[in-house]
Parts: sequence; structure tokens; C-alpha cells
Amino acid sequence: MAAQSVLGIDLGSNAIKIVELVKRGNNLVLSSLGSIPTPPRGLMSDVPLDEQAVIDVLMKLLKEMKVNSRGVHASLPESAVFTRVIDLPNLTEKELSSSIKWEAEQYIPLPIDKVNIDYAILSRSNEANSMRVLLIAAPLTLIEKYTRIFEAANLDILSLETDAVASSRIIPKSLPEKSNELILNIGAGTSIIGIVKDKSLIFVRTVAAAGESFTRTIADELGFSPSQAEEYKRTYGLNRDSLEGKIFTTLSPSIRQLMEEVKKVIVYFNGQYPQEKLTTILLSGGSVRMPGLVSYVASETSLDTQVVNPFENISYNAAQKTMIESNASYFTVAVGLCIKEWI
Ligand SMILES: Nc1ncnc2c1ncn2[C@@H]1O[C@H](COP(=O)(O)OP(=O)(O)OP(=O)(O)O)[C@@H](O)[C@H]1O
Ligand SMILES: [Mg+2]
Repeated sequence: MAAQSVLGIDLGSNAIKIVELVKRGNNLVLSSLGSIPTPPRGLMSDVPLDEQAVIDVLMKLLKEMKVNSRGVHASLPESAVFTRVIDLPNLTEKELSSSIKWEAEQYIPLPIDKVNIDYAILSRSNEANSMRVLLIAAPLTLIEKYTRIFEAANLDILSLETDAVASSRIIPKSLPEKSNELILNIGAGTSIIGIVKDKSLIFVRTVAAAGESFTRTIADELGFSPSQAEEYKRTYGLNRDSLEGKIFTTLSPSIRQLMEEVKKVIVYFNGQYPQEKLTTILLSGGSVRMPGLVSYVASETSLDTQVVNPFENISYNAAQKTMIESNASYFTVAVGLCIKEWI
């Protein structure tokens, strides 16, 4: 029997990214990958026509990629999901599973019967008789919408998780087994800041300072059309020496806002885990290609800053290499979703 391939699908607000992987022996092999712009109103809209537009482009991309798989691991947009770290009295697994819904109620700004709850025990302290739990609550309407979209595209959902959970699987081989990283995915509508401790996601926060707001700021402040602003952003970004630093200066408040949030998360980690060290920032998402961004993040945080390559442990052919090389980290969420199959 041929090895079973699976899909990882990241339905971003700006682009749909798909990765198809298969396991041959001990090797993960890239069967296909691709991306396509998300229709403008896309996932934010509740209008059936807009949902159909998403289904249409998803099916178009699957066809172009000639995928063989039906099974898909997909992600829910981080900004629409509530992720909190909560401290509870020490409970057994069984006690926790029966009480989590009621415990969760006070932390979630939605009626508890309108969300799907997922959780992971992060740590236990016998001295304090307490446990720390990562709580993830996804609105049922969102899950239903995603289920409709994938079913209409003739796919079977194997799992749904969040962008941050998927990204947290992509840790460079060079980092030690026990290490703590800050993951920063700068997309279009949202930037996701997460902490991964010893390979587990332990904290997530989202901020709206991301690609779209960067472009909008340039358009508004300098009077460019959105497409001109996008081009300026991609060409000059945070480069202080181009155009007399005009684009850099315009982008500065948004970037500073993002960096303030990153620094708050670092302070949170240091406060919660005073014996531990956060060593590395792992960047992903389309906006990390903005000129000057990586060195800006590195200099603001004084931490080792790397753009992740989610294909580090995956074999691919020469044609795929061209597509990956320029833009590997763009597919971080999609690869993180897909490799779930073999973990
Ligand atoms: N070279 C570049 N320089 C700056 N920004 C870029 C560059 N290439 C892409 N981007 C930005 O990356 C963003 C898209 O990234 P990505 O595909 O990660 O977002 P998304 O996953 O669709 O969105 P979200 O995660 O917010 O839903 C866009 O805002 C785009 O402007
Ligand atoms: Mg994204």
C-alpha cells in the first residue's frame, strides 16, 4: 500500500497556504505546496457568497497542486480563539476534564456552551497545591464555518488547532532539547507572540500590528494608494538609509507597538520562570520578509533572532526548492499542522 499523504492548510486572512507531506521510511517528503490569495472579505465575512469565494479558491489551489490527499490538519485564526494560561488547584486528569468547562467560564468572554474547550496541563506544584493549565477556547460558529469550508472542498478534517500550536512544532534542530523560545508570527491581520518552553507552547498573545496595518499606515501617512504603499513597504521596509528613512519613520510607531508587546511577553516569561532563560526569537509569517525587520527585532530584544525554516527536516525536489528558498517561513503554520500527523 502506498504511504498515506496528508495536508496542512493555513487559511490566512491574506493567503491560503497548503503543504502536502508523505512519510517514506523515516523521511518526511514534500509532495506538493502552494499558496493563493484569500478572497478580500474572505474569512471575516458571514455572507454565504464570501464563504463560497473562499471554497472556490481553496479548490482551485488544490487542483493546481494536484493533491492526492483528502485528510487535512487545519488551523483556526489565532485572533478568533481565546488562549489563556490559568492556575487551578491540583486536580487529577479526570477531575480536570470534568470541571474544565466550569473553570473556563470565568476566563472566556463568550457563553461556555458556545465554545469548544481544549486544554493542556503545563505544570504542577505540589508545594502550592496548584497546577498551571493552557486553556484554548474556540467559538463553535468558527469551527462550524471551517467544517463547512473543508467539507465543501471535499476534504476530511483530521484536526483543528490554532496557528500558534502549529507554529510551536517548528523548532530548529540546532536548539537544545531543553530550551525556551519566543515565537513571533507576523502575518497580515495579526501578529502572534507565543512562548515555547521545552517544546511545548505555554503562552500566546495576539496583536493587530501586522502586515496590513503596516501598509495602511504608509498609505494614510504618505498619501499612497494601498498597492503603492504595499510596494514601498516591501522595497524599503525598515531600511533607515532608503528614501531618507521616510518609510522607516512612518512604520516606526506600528513596529514599536509590536515590539512593546514582545517585550511585555519576555518580562512575563522572566517573572514566571525566574530560573529559566529565553534565548531565541523564532520569526515566521509573510511580514518577516520586510527589509530590516530581522535585525530590528534582534537589536530591540538583544536575543538571538532567527527566521525559521519549517522544511529543515523535509526532503523536496529541485522545482520545490525554488519556491521554498525565497519564502520558507511563509509555510510555517502549514508545515507545523501537517507534521502533527507523525508526532
Ligand atoms: N517582502 C515583504 N515585505 C514586507 N511584507 C511582506 C512581504 N511579503 C509579504 N509581506 C506581507 O505578509 C503579509 C502576509 O503574510 P501571511 O501570509 O503570513 O499572512 P496571513 O497568514 O494570510 O495572515 P494572518 O495570519 O494575519 O491571518 C501581508 O501583509 C504582506 O504584505
Ligand atoms: Mg497567518
